[in-house]
Amino acid sequence: MGPIDRTIDAAASALVPEALTRYRAVRRATENLIRALTPEDMQAQSMPEASPTKWHLAHTSWFFETFLLQPGLPDYKLFDPRFGYLFNSYYEAIGPRQPRPDRGLITRPSLDDVLAYRAHVDAGMERLLAAGPAPRPDLLDLGLAHEQQHQELILMDILNLFAASPLRPAYAPPHSTGATAPPPIGWTGFEGGLVEIGHDGRGFAFDNETPRHKTWLEPFRLANRLVTNGEWLAFMTDGGYARPELWLSEGWARVQAEGWRAPLYWQDGEGGWTVMTLRGLRPVDTAAPVSHISYYEADAYATWAGARLPTEAEWEHASAAAWHEGNFLTSGALTAQPAPAGEGLRQMFGDLWEWTRSAYLPYPGFKPAEGAVGEYNGKFMAGQFVLRGGACVTPGGHVRASYRNFFHPHQRWMFSGVRLALDGLDPASSLETDVLEGLARPQKSIPPKHFYDAEGSRLFEAITELAEYYPTRTEITLLRRAASEMAAEIPVRAALVEFGSGASLKTRILLDAAPQVDVYAPIDISEAALEAAAHAIRADYPKLEVAPLREDFTRALELPAAARGRPVVGFFPGSTIGNFTPDDAKTFLAGARRLLGRGAAFFVGIDLRKDRATLEAAYDDALGVTAAFNKNLLVRINRELGGDFDLDAFAHRAVWNEGEGRIEMHLMSLKDQAVTVAGRTFRFAAGETLHTENSYKFTVEGFAELAAGAGWRLERRWVSAHPAFAVVLLRA
Ligand code: SAH
Ligand code: AVI
Repeated sequence: MGPIDRTIDAAASALVPEALTRYRAVRRATENLIRALTPEDMQAQSMPEASPTKWHLAHTSWFFETFLLQPGLPDYKLFDPRFGYLFNSYYEAIGPRQPRPDRGLITRPSLDDVLAYRAHVDAGMERLLAAGPAPRPDLLDLGLAHEQQHQELILMDILNLFAASPLRPAYAPPHSTGATAPPPIGWTGFEGGLVEIGHDGRGFAFDNETPRHKTWLEPFRLANRLVTNGEWLAFMTDGGYARPELWLSEGWARVQAEGWRAPLYWQDGEGGWTVMTLRGLRPVDTAAPVSHISYYEADAYATWAGARLPTEAEWEHASAAAWHEGNFLTSGALTAQPAPAGEGLRQMFGDLWEWTRSAYLPYPGFKPAEGAVGEYNGKFMAGQFVLRGGACVTPGGHVRASYRNFFHPHQRWMFSGVRLALDGLDPASSLETDVLEGLARPQKSIPPKHFYDAEGSRLFEAITELAEYYPTRTEITLLRRAASEMAAEIPVRAALVEFGSGASLKTRILLDAAPQVDVYAPIDISEAALEAAAHAIRADYPKLEVAPLREDFTRALELPAAARGRPVVGFFPGSTIGNFTPDDAKTFLAGARRLLGRGAAFFVGIDLRKDRATLEAAYDDALGVTAAFNKNLLVRINRELGGDFDLDAFAHRAVWNEGEGRIEMHLMSLKDQAVTVAGRTFRFAAGETLHTENSYKFTVEGFAELAAGAGWRLERRWVSAHPAFAVVLLRA
């Protein structure tokens, strides 16, 4: 093209009304999609929910003919009056129609006739729009958005058809993703509160995105990326499709009835799992996000992972930043790509539609559009779930933060994926929530994990040196005695994962006995303790890879990257498991089983029941170190939450509760008093207590039963004489 042609071209396009330019672009985009297809491809219907491409081509034209041309262009002639019956999708107000499951039977009109129909409608639309703005710009926008939805449906339906073809044809050539290991899952926290969701009125939106309205969000966290195929394989290997306890009742019924064992389009073969994609049958890419899963599968996975699906309001609220940063794919990549490296929420737009746990319901004050197009969205608001964010087959520019897609919970042929969510903020900032909630209860209480700021960790180490505190010393003696037998249970190249590692002192006994351990992954909530311990272990074990994880171990969903792909051995000494209630211990053990994986060994230290005097002395020492440890919680609250606890107005109490089988630590108010924390006031009566810790004491049999409830078998035990303490080997 020369400079003069270019000038003429620019001049000509300046004369084309903007609406017509948009119309042409969307219609051409549809026609571009069918270049790779044969007429036979475009005729077949692979299942009742899917439609032949030919039908999509005609139906989108019918939409413009019915809603814009007939009412808006006085001399417009229908291309064929019989097409209303053939290509009406679901508009009761317009009239009867060919049943959806039988769309593949429409062999006449031919593809050529349908393309001629498109050209006829295009000519009408050219005339309608040539004069200037469309008479009903809202309906033009709707027609264009509608056609874009069908562009995506064409690709979904073609994949379904090609996956059913023995030849497994590829719609597009393969391309390498340059597969890299996905970044470990990270979380972005949101305070929540009163937020607004729904379309803000700028630009086009479907009626179901309105009205914008206020909604309340509790604090939550959203995963920074989608769940990968690799993670899905771990779910499958852990019996994900065979364990009813992970599934919603209706989901489990589907698993049984339809024999689900993997996502739709996965195939098990000699060379491992492959998956049918628009780029043909490919080996499953473990770094890419898992796709083509039902709501039921997404929910079961989330349960397995100890997380949940986000609500649509959470998703929309969280996505606002990603949307404004333009952090999304803009056009159909046809297959979803691994998450890019980086910080913050990734893969929010244009990768896979993300299941939310929100039922597809009208927003408060919703009114469907006037006329037949009022049937567009509103009448489907029952029995479906919302998906957000668009997919790699969604046309560029089609999605937005408020966009609500919806499908039935069993459906799998759309490009659907999973992003996990968690309740609450990160463990450090949950101090405020836990304290404010805990102080508002009839029996005031705060979870013991909040003891462990730097000073709390230091005081705990001091406790372990006390004459009265027998557990540490007893367990160390026991571990030294058992070390070589324990080491024999540890495979070569193993990763040792320790929960509540503190100073990692007991760990050294195991590491010395088991030089075959390659990776040490301590998990602890206390940053100070974890850093110091990792530093010391690195210095003394230079060949060992040390991969610390600062996390609440009840929420650790993933092993550090260094531990993945290795045999994993768990270590949980100190009877810290006794600081959980039995229910929470069971939940923790189930989570640890998932984290450590099938067949894993798990060494757990448990303090055993003994006489009251020994127990109470261990938790109320003569030097007052345990009292200082207990009161340090108040010091921490005063410092971090602007509290005004008077330390001298509370006394340390440790009592053996025989009925519950636990030592309880409390802080007892010595007078009637009011305390302010984070701007809120709480009253204490004289003698009233703040419950700060339980330390359950076990029998080996009782513990074996508890562990069995979480899928662990107690395989071996090492038990000390008085004071009785045990280390047990659990096997997943
Ligand atoms: N394992 C060491 C330390 C036990 S003290 C020993 O046996 O001596 C308990 C440790 O668990 C502390 O380091 C504390 O910071 C950590 N901890 C307590 N609750 C935790 C939680 N919910 N998540 C992660 N770490 C926790
Ligand atoms: C960490 N945990 C097992 C200790 C225990 O014995 O319950 C914490 C502790 N509380 C008072 N002293 C020690």
